[in-house]
Amino acid sequence: MASSTSTATKASLEIPSAEVTRKWWVEDAELTIEARNLLERYSGLTDSEIDTHVRALREKIWAVFPYPCVGSFDFATPNLSRRRPLFDRLVSILCAPTSLTPSAAKEPLYLDFGCCVGQDLRTLRAAGVPGNRLIGAEYFPGFVDAGYDLFLDRDTLGATFLTPYDILDTDNRSLEPYQGQINVVHMGMLLHLFTWAQQVDILVKKLVDTDTGIFLKDTPGVLLVGTVVSHERGVATESWNTPGHWPFFHNPDTFKRMIVEVGERTGTKWQVSAEYDYRNNFTKPEGLEGRDEIRQLAFECERL
Ligand SMILES: C[S@@+](CC[C@H](N)C(=O)[O-])C[C@H]1O[C@@H](n2cnc3c(N)ncnc32)[C@H](O)[C@@H]1O
Repeated sequence: MASSTSTATKASLEIPSAEVTRKWWVEDAELTIEARNLLERYSGLTDSEIDTHVRALREKIWAVFPYPCVGSFDFATPNLSRRRPLFDRLVSILCAPTSLTPSAAKEPLYLDFGCCVGQDLRTLRAAGVPGNRLIGAEYFPGFVDAGYDLFLDRDTLGATFLTPYDILDTDNRSLEPYQGQINVVHMGMLLHLFTWAQQVDILVKKLVDTDTGIFLKDTPGVLLVGTVVSHERGVATESWNTPGHWPFFHNPDTFKRMIVEVGERTGTKWQVSAEYDYRNNFTKPEGLEGRDEIRQLAFECERL
């Protein structure tokens, strides 16, 4: 888990106790229809092969880090492809011929921070986005490796993965070659791991701050999309494995307020949509404080 202060420059992810993680392993978890479709149509598995395949991979992924989304099978469910018309818009941006992109001779690029096994990247690939336009940045190399085994595309995906990549590490220069070239940044179920101050720092430094590395193109129309664990009251909740660390769980209002803060810090303006997403099969982890008020929030921010 990330460190508690906004000035932290490195994450320290400590595995929670077995007493905590035991609650997150759902023995009879079922795959969503979206995950099944992806594994059938993209990976070429038959319906009868899918369950055994995913159950075996879940063991491997759990051994990397036992996130609630691993134990519940949510790791295999794509977040973006259910969001229409957003997904269609992303595909159209990312499939645009090079010559039609705003800055000549540059290909449109998608960057997925905290991509885990890369299920969203695969839905874009399956929809026709060329692999060389897809980039994942992930803390745990083991998740990326398991993603190849899960989706059976080690030789065909053609995406770039930067891993280990720590989004809090201001010294990490591995994304520099893409500076100012990304059209779409995705942060799926990531920002809620951090305090409000850390979230603002991440967005300022990774998206728009020209001093520290602007990865999005410096132009209107670029997109930040994603999801977070959300709390109806918009609150800081003490972390389950790092006492003293208070990740912030947004509601739609606090999320919009945070983006205004990012805009003020960077001199940019954003059109923000932030709504509870009841379509997603988000499994609320057992043992989470205030569980009844926990939701999933989907956001879409477009630079004006
Ligand atoms: C809850 S999972 C969400 C995974 C995936 N994006 C999704 O929507 O299903 C959070 C992901 O962020 C990664 N992560 C956590 N802290 C990170 C950090 N400091 N830098 C980069 N990735 C991080 C985790 O390893 C994990 O893959």
